[in-house]
Amino acid sequence: MNVVDSEVVVAILQKQDYEVTETMEEANLILVNTCSIRDNAEQKVNNRIKEFGAQKRKNKNLVVGVIGCMAERLKEKLLEEERSVDLVVGPDAYRELPALLTEVESGQKGINTLLSLEETYADLSPVRLDKNHVSSFVSIMRGCNNFCAYCVVPYTRGRERSRDPETIEREVKELFDAGYKEVTLLGQNVNSYRWSFNDEAKADTSSSAEASEDAIKFEALLERIAKISPQLRVRFATSHPKDMSDELLMTMAKYPNLCRSIHLPVQSGSTAVLKRMKRGYTREWYMNRIEAIRKYLPEATISTDIIAGYCGETEEEHKETLSLMKWVGYDLAFMFKYSERPDTFAAKKYEDDVPEDVKTKRLSEIIALQGTLSLEGKKKDIGKVYEVLIEGTSKKSKEQLFGRTSQNKVAVFTANGQKPGDYVMVKVNDCTSATLLTTLLEDEY
Ligand code: 5AD
Ligand code: SF4
Repeated sequence: MNVVDSEVVVAILQKQDYEVTETMEEANLILVNTCSIRDNAEQKVNNRIKEFGAQKRKNKNLVVGVIGCMAERLKEKLLEEERSVDLVVGPDAYRELPALLTEVESGQKGINTLLSLEETYADLSPVRLDKNHVSSFVSIMRGCNNFCAYCVVPYTRGRERSRDPETIEREVKELFDAGYKEVTLLGQNVNSYRWSFNDEAKADTSSSAEASEDAIKFEALLERIAKISPQLRVRFATSHPKDMSDELLMTMAKYPNLCRSIHLPVQSGSTAVLKRMKRGYTREWYMNRIEAIRKYLPEATISTDIIAGYCGETEEEHKETLSLMKWVGYDLAFMFKYSERPDTFAAKKYEDDVPEDVKTKRLSEIIALQGTLSLEGKKKDIGKVYEVLIEGTSKKSKEQLFGRTSQNKVAVFTANGQKPGDYVMVKVNDCTSATLLTTLLEDEY
């Protein structure tokens, strides 16, 4: 989300004749787009702000701004505590950046952390900052209404709102026309995407019943995007287990270019912990959703997010997470220690009572198990043939290219004149837990 937001910010600033520099030393304005999800994310930003402070002593004209979730969470405190910060702008206030920069130029500090119920930056075309021009992110909604007990996002990114599908389709078409071959549709909870053109026409108050019937839901949006071209791969993140519908899976099954990989954050395998997390589903419900994925999309891989050592988590509850991980056989997982976030429900209601060393031990057990599961999942691919979208040159060797399968597995192979953006067929010979080692199949396809 922050990658796209930074691209939106560049679009806004380019209209004011700003340009992106390659290095910090060349810049007269540094904006750091921040994340508040865990304390260590914020600590990294604090360290960067110190570096910018040092740079400011070298370049007296340098303006430093903090944007994104930390700006929203800390507001004036950032200006009070960090002398080198001139500008603080929350995620819904980026359109105000030019005006705020004018204030800073006149010697004041600039701040705007107002959240909005409507802002989706729908009309702006993000200026793409990626290097390979193969794969890009497209924001389809902002904010979150779920209020999971541990999570700061609903406070820093505000209420959930969906973006006009016409503008989403237009942006994806522009990307495809510019040579991109893959888009990832982004939202905190894409399954609750909903757009009604009738709601838009606010003057027409007589048609509220009609409005809900006409609403475009996520499945319909996905179908529209899938139809742009079979040569365009479409991914999406993040799905919430409580809203993951059979209709969505059936839609995916109809379109081979809707990628066969689903990110379905579980957070914990224990129903009691899920309840304390206010996730809105049980272990059994989650397992039922995995069974639905297996039924409609048997070839799909599943990835997840897991939090170790949440408030009150017992050893038994932790073991339930491990057993669920094995049952699902995740291909990939993002695994974190619980980090208490100020003012969340969990911070107010529960004690962060799992000792640090226990959190560390549980997280390392989760990581070790995931390593085994990732390897097992890839071993099953040995001997199989996959279509790979090439993304770039492998870090290890210039002769080797890498790309991804529809299942989101990274494959490397020795190239023969192919380039990023090409689709190739490969055969899997071997693997590590992170990569498929493959050979290019040229003549047969
Ligand atoms: N502590 C640790 N991990 C968290 N996440 C969200 N909030 C916290 C927190 N307070 C994780 C969840 C979420 C991912 C984006 O970050 O697993 O899915
Ligand atoms: Fe946070 Fe839950 Fe919303 Fe995800 S769904 S952003 S974890 S509140």
